[in-house]
Amino acid sequence: MVVRTEKIRPSQADGTITKSGPFSGAGNDTDMLGHKVILRIRATNLHRNKSPANGKIARMRLRTAVSFLALSLLSLAPCVRAETGEEGWLRYAPLPLQTQLQYNTMPHYLVAAGHSAVAESAATELARGLHSMLGETLRASSSVPPEDAFLLGTPLEIRHLLPAWKATVPAGGFSFSQVAAHGHHYWVIAGGDDRGELYGVFRVLEQVAQQMPLTPDTESPSSPIRWVNQWDNFDGTIERGYAGRSIFFDNGQVRSDLHRVSEYGRLLASVGLNGATVNNVNANLHTLDPEMIVELARIADAFRPWGVRMSLSVDLSSPQAVGHLGTFDPLDPQVAAWWKEKVNELYRAIPDFAGFVIKADSEGRPGPSKYGRTPAQAANVVARALKPHSGVVLYRGFVYNNHLDWNNLKADRARAGYDNFRALDGKFEPNVVIQVKHGPIDFQVREPVSPLIAALRHTSQAIELQITQEYTGQQRHMVFLVPMWKWVLNTDLRAQNRSTPVSEIVEGKSFHQPLGGFVGVANVGLDTNWLHHPMAMANLYGFGKLAWNPELTTEGIIDTWTRLTFGNNPKVVDVVNGLQTNSWRVYEQYTGPLGIGGLTNIISIHYGPGIESAERNGWGQWFRADKHGIGMDRTVATGTGYIGQYPPQLAKVYESLDTCPDSLLLFMHHVPYNYMLRSGKTLVQHVYDAHYEGAAAAATYAPRWHTLHGLIDDPRYEETLALFEYEAGHAVVWRDAVTAWFQNISGIPDKLGRVGQYPDRIETDSMQADGYTTVAVTPWETASAGKAVVCNRSAPCTLSTKLGRPAGVYTIAVRYFDLRTGAAHYELLLNNQPLAHWVANATLPPAAVDAHPNGSTSTLFTVSDVHLKPGDTLMLRGTPNQGEPAPVDYIEVNKQQ
Ligand code: GCU
Repeated sequence: MVVRTEKIRPSQADGTITKSGPFSGAGNDTDMLGHKVILRIRATNLHRNKSPANGKIARMRLRTAVSFLALSLLSLAPCVRAETGEEGWLRYAPLPLQTQLQYNTMPHYLVAAGHSAVAESAATELARGLHSMLGETLRASSSVPPEDAFLLGTPLEIRHLLPAWKATVPAGGFSFSQVAAHGHHYWVIAGGDDRGELYGVFRVLEQVAQQMPLTPDTESPSSPIRWVNQWDNFDGTIERGYAGRSIFFDNGQVRSDLHRVSEYGRLLASVGLNGATVNNVNANLHTLDPEMIVELARIADAFRPWGVRMSLSVDLSSPQAVGHLGTFDPLDPQVAAWWKEKVNELYRAIPDFAGFVIKADSEGRPGPSKYGRTPAQAANVVARALKPHSGVVLYRGFVYNNHLDWNNLKADRARAGYDNFRALDGKFEPNVVIQVKHGPIDFQVREPVSPLIAALRHTSQAIELQITQEYTGQQRHMVFLVPMWKWVLNTDLRAQNRSTPVSEIVEGKSFHQPLGGFVGVANVGLDTNWLHHPMAMANLYGFGKLAWNPELTTEGIIDTWTRLTFGNNPKVVDVVNGLQTNSWRVYEQYTGPLGIGGLTNIISIHYGPGIESAERNGWGQWFRADKHGIGMDRTVATGTGYIGQYPPQLAKVYESLDTCPDSLLLFMHHVPYNYMLRSGKTLVQHVYDAHYEGAAAAATYAPRWHTLHGLIDDPRYEETLALFEYEAGHAVVWRDAVTAWFQNISGIPDKLGRVGQYPDRIETDSMQADGYTTVAVTPWETASAGKAVVCNRSAPCTLSTKLGRPAGVYTIAVRYFDLRTGAAHYELLLNNQPLAHWVANATLPPAAVDAHPNGSTSTLFTVSDVHLKPGDTLMLRGTPNQGEPAPVDYIEVNKQQ
């Protein structure tokens, strides 16, 4: 093991250093390791360094520590090192000196018994983490030293080193315990296997990073399948990826530089994830080409030291496409032989290959239906080929017809999973796992749990959760998804009239299935901070944590993530935890409440509002609105019968309007707009209020973030602030679109007179325009009055207005459209003096390369603290760029409180 010896300068970002610490003089407190500590500084550094040379180093260290302390006391200004987010939650930020000293009886030796690549990662990581956080160096020793030491290994290895050690270590997990022997303390990190060692090490480091005392701990993973899926294409793009290009592929090949892959493996392992499917579920037909397998093996190599096994998505027609057979009929013996041979070839290149993910007969993918075969027959032929190698097939339950008949009131996409798989339960090979999306539609902001989860009782299943925020703001909005996942995992489906929470079913406990688990569609990209929004990494972290242990609480998960990501300063922890915890609810409020679905444009990028795109097409994400009411009638009595797919006790709850939770009302029932909710509000008034409350809550993010200025490093502070400011504006776009649409279709006005009444707004047609011309915006609800102005010439265009506002301080907001075809330039001038300027190229998710003004491109720019007096003239100058005609919706002038 390579170890360095310099003392790292503690950062004050994690807390302030105080003069009167427990280390000021002799004491007999207990340290973070539960030991009695006497004269901490000296004890740490002197008694372990017996040689004269070491004694000198130790004295130097002591001096360094003391003089650093003095310096720290002199300087109260926080010094926060700039960060990029690349380390995610594995920053190992140096702890404040006071805290470092509390760990000063931490062993200085490490005996790492294992020799596998994973065991070596565990040892190196422990040394790296402790060195970075505590400034101390672990010395490698091949035998148990007559000193305190960490011992790292499997139970057999540890017992060999230290016969006195007796703990039991769960399979796949770890045990962390302290043993006193020969007058010394040994901290034993024992893994059920080498991965377990790694997980144990990460847990120890997590405790230190949170400045917690090291506590003995024994843990085992909830289930064997704890995978991420990446929807990466070989050309380097990522389907539904919002954070840059693929870390795996570029230009049809595996990237030559895979260091991000190895860093990704480290992040995954740190939260207990053990598998990664690296290519799009809509798999490239050449995935199993011999040349590609050779390339893919390099990705598996990069993951291997982190105990992450690679898997691949494959197209079921591969025997035909790659193998040039005349068929891919799963019952054809030639096809079975082809899969066997191909799988053998794969394992020759990738001995720890994990298995395949298969999407078939869905959204245009070929599948067994072509030959009149079932998903079980398709999955089994592949599973039999994988079986000798202990590989698995994750066959996706996301099989549905996207050409449904809108005119058929019984048609219902939500029924598809159950209808396609229920009858096949028990017909799958034991190494097949059905990968079921948590909801019956597709990762909407709120969906009930898929009834298929309760229906598979003789088949292993893994729940598919989506970390990439396809329908939840695409990492331009903050949406912490752990509260949603907890809600899903805690849902008791009452199968067999007994308690069967989703978490226990997917862990394999409820129906005694061997291979349960969790799959998270992650889609990290080459953006330095992996997921673009600094807050979004909490979703990757939280997914891993829940996959390891679904019993963990939202509060516990976010608290740990925040401390690891931004440090332990109580103010930072409080603000970040508060922002994240409520963000799913806020997003639901200003997008699609009451279980109606996302209300986004479902035909294209799934981002901004585009309400009616869900209706009158074959995709089946309908809510069947008319002028009397809204919602899908999925009852057994009068609707599609979907509710009858749930076990009877839960079906009864959903079937009746008296018991169906309001949060799922419009998913289950069709009701009139003036239907009275439990809150005493009508449905439509609830929709208005929720949107105003949600947008108001989103507007608090940036001001709350301001309170952390100086407590978080500038780059991450600024990056997050810009996203919060953007989100506040886009929440208003959502609010206005949805409320206007509901008011229009229902004909019921907002009791509070907000919807459609915007007294502070100046519409473009009431301004004096030079060069700007009016265009209609589609859908109409995504622009004020359904219109915008565009500048279709190369010279700038202007809009001017005389403001008649009383003297005071105002906020001026300009709603414009960022079309991403170019980077139009905007300037605001007050009485011909420059007030603000910006470029329309910053904020939108990459998919929004949309040449049209609409709900995805609509953006709000805001400038505050503008002093106005009656008669002031405001001018907006838009300069088109590369076909982007500097479109404008309106200007709003609001008095500041
Ligand atoms: C959604 C998503 C697609 C994806 C599909 C799937 O429909 O928009 O991009 O391919 O889910 O999960 O297979």
